[in-house]
Amino acid sequence: MGDKPEAKDVLFNDAAWRSLNLPHDWSIEGKFDPQNPTTQAEGGLPAGIGWYRKIFSLPESAKNKKVFIDLDGVYRNSEVWINGHYLGKRPNGYISFRYEFTPYLKFNGQKNVIAARVDNSDQPNSRWYTGSGIYRNVWLVTTAKTYIANWGTYITTPKVDERLAEIALSVQLHRSAGSKKLSLQATVMDSLGKVVVQKTLPVNDADSVVQQNLQLHEPKLWSVSRPYLYKIIVNILENGKPIDSYVTQTGIRYFNFDADKGFSLNGKAMKILGVCMHHDQGALGAAINVRAIERQLQILKAMGCNAIRTSHNPPAPELLDLCDRMGFLVMDEAFDMWKKKKSKFDYHADWDKWHMRDLQDQVLRDRNHPSIFAWSVGNEIREQFDSTGVSIGRELVAIVKQLDKTRPVTSALSDPDPKKNYIYQSGALDLVGLNYHQEVYADFQKNYPGQKFIGTENMSALETRGHYDMPSDSIRRWPKDGKTPLKDGNPDHTVSAYDNVSAYWGSTHEETWKIIKKYDFLSGLFVWTGFDYIGEPTPYLWPARSSYFGIVDLAGFPKDVYYMYQSEWTNKPVLHLLPHWNWKPGQTIDVWAYYNNADEVEVYLNGKSLGIKRKTGDDLHAVWSIKYEPGTLKAVSRKNGKVVLSTQVSTAGKPYKIKLEADRSRISADGKDLSFITVSVLDRDNNLVPEANDLIKFKVKGAGILKAVDNGSQTDLDPFVTNEHRVFNGLGLAIIQSKVQQGKIIIDAAADGLQPATLSVESK
Ligand code: GAL
Repeated sequence: MGDKPEAKDVLFNDAAWRSLNLPHDWSIEGKFDPQNPTTQAEGGLPAGIGWYRKIFSLPESAKNKKVFIDLDGVYRNSEVWINGHYLGKRPNGYISFRYEFTPYLKFNGQKNVIAARVDNSDQPNSRWYTGSGIYRNVWLVTTAKTYIANWGTYITTPKVDERLAEIALSVQLHRSAGSKKLSLQATVMDSLGKVVVQKTLPVNDADSVVQQNLQLHEPKLWSVSRPYLYKIIVNILENGKPIDSYVTQTGIRYFNFDADKGFSLNGKAMKILGVCMHHDQGALGAAINVRAIERQLQILKAMGCNAIRTSHNPPAPELLDLCDRMGFLVMDEAFDMWKKKKSKFDYHADWDKWHMRDLQDQVLRDRNHPSIFAWSVGNEIREQFDSTGVSIGRELVAIVKQLDKTRPVTSALSDPDPKKNYIYQSGALDLVGLNYHQEVYADFQKNYPGQKFIGTENMSALETRGHYDMPSDSIRRWPKDGKTPLKDGNPDHTVSAYDNVSAYWGSTHEETWKIIKKYDFLSGLFVWTGFDYIGEPTPYLWPARSSYFGIVDLAGFPKDVYYMYQSEWTNKPVLHLLPHWNWKPGQTIDVWAYYNNADEVEVYLNGKSLGIKRKTGDDLHAVWSIKYEPGTLKAVSRKNGKVVLSTQVSTAGKPYKIKLEADRSRISADGKDLSFITVSVLDRDNNLVPEANDLIKFKVKGAGILKAVDNGSQTDLDPFVTNEHRVFNGLGLAIIQSKVQQGKIIIDAAADGLQPATLSVESK
């Protein structure tokens, strides 16, 4: 940490440096502190400058090869040296890029030194937590002298239906001087690895872009419910011998936006049921971990979510691979600002020099992903308010279209007045993306004749998991406008989880979903946000340090409204009752039930019926007002008089014991895989104690380590990287990581006054 310009030199002595594995985010290892220049907007974690060095050797045989380094993302202002030679600087913290090492390498076991300087010291430079460092994967790539370019394949399907897909393959070659007699072999493999099409064609000696057309009969189409993937393997042959190969995973599908009917995938109408996601993975920070992203997506999938907006930057490539594989549509977003800044030191200063290259690289990298259905060139861009929105808007859309014409381009607009919004006025957008302003949606067709709609960002409702303020039906806007800081918030910086609080520019979840649901031409929405993220803790000031917007909290525990979506967005039977049942006798408590697949719900307190309720009109929940008495509150949903589901919650006694539960009790011994352990504090009768905040101490032995801890609280200032943590409203999280060693991982959890717990996870 800190600046060490000499560290670029081969002979620099780094013996005292810490050794670590990439990907790495140094901010997450730090302490929350309001004095950190990142400010509360970025979670108040430290930033600064860091250096990395890596020493490696290459065999003599690598002399005939080209060698590159591919960096998936470095936050930010990275500069890279190989053996003391400067390779360049890349300001954008979210972009993937490549440098060539070839001319500077040593072989035959001699040492090669990569040095990288990462500078995140100019602060503030973001409106959310970014992390700092080489937080995405890095790859050393070797190829033949003639090779397929990085992101050098482009696969489209000019014609596709259930009977036939015509695949157009374009391959960009880098040819070594005098390379001759090349041919290109393209192989399409189905998801079981069976070759379904193969074709080899000679390449003209003069060509560096090679086109091939392939026909695939009875293609299995990719969809969110059946995300079927093919692999296209391109081999370059020289005199018949394979010299380079490039594998592209892709899926075959078609989709359409219609100004009246909304979105359809493979000819079938569907709503885009999306969430916006920032890139952090809670307590793990920004350092990408495939299992952590997969878990986030699994939790969202189980809610019925079918789309992700990568707000407001290009994501890790692994997120896109997972979306392809798990069946999510993706809106791939480029920028949160153009030339006009949002934070003092943000990307606006790099705009002129870098925006074209960055946008091109994003499209080149991502355009083969079947999950991506739209490009967004910006979020709430300031230029929408003046005529530069027209020129820059057109320029950006043209950059995208030059590289990919198969997907619509949008920009997330915050001024919904079609006459005043200059980005809309540019006429360049294929899709009108509106953030918030649900009040204008019903009249969209009138005000934007012939245009296609997507809700690029919606709701900004606020909740703290497990916290409830009565009365549940009075809706609060926190803050109430842009001028008045919040004064009547909760002293402990919580927000009620009854879905009755939102930022003034947004709405509760129910308010907007009711509108989107009603009109077919509203093709879909992206809820702000799927998960809480670090930073932007609207509506509070310090010690609030992470956001309240998530449907799911930072630790991955669903807030109640998760079940509202699940009851609406899935067909599986849902019955969810809230709140918990620990109140003061005589208090009047609003009891809500989210349910589906049933005509009615009956609630019983200690066996006595408190009445049957039905959702009527556009209701999304049923509500009872109940005089509290301790005991058991039970709900039963029925259809045609038959019980569909029942659920209950009982008054909890004192905290008595700890319970540990692993999301996966078997993980891979690859030093990366994770098991997420839910820690619950229960009473003697196994009821979750809804306000427990006991400090849990963890000991992890054997084939794994305790990677991080969390509890989903938005105000807990204890670090994530440590071995003890409080639970919050009864729940906590311990994230266990495997070592590169098979065996058992034993997790012990203890707390003063509580029965301890032990759990074992197998690492194989
Ligand atoms: C939007 C913005 C998001 C986030 C959100 C919070 O205006 O696009 O990045 O700041 O507000 O409500």
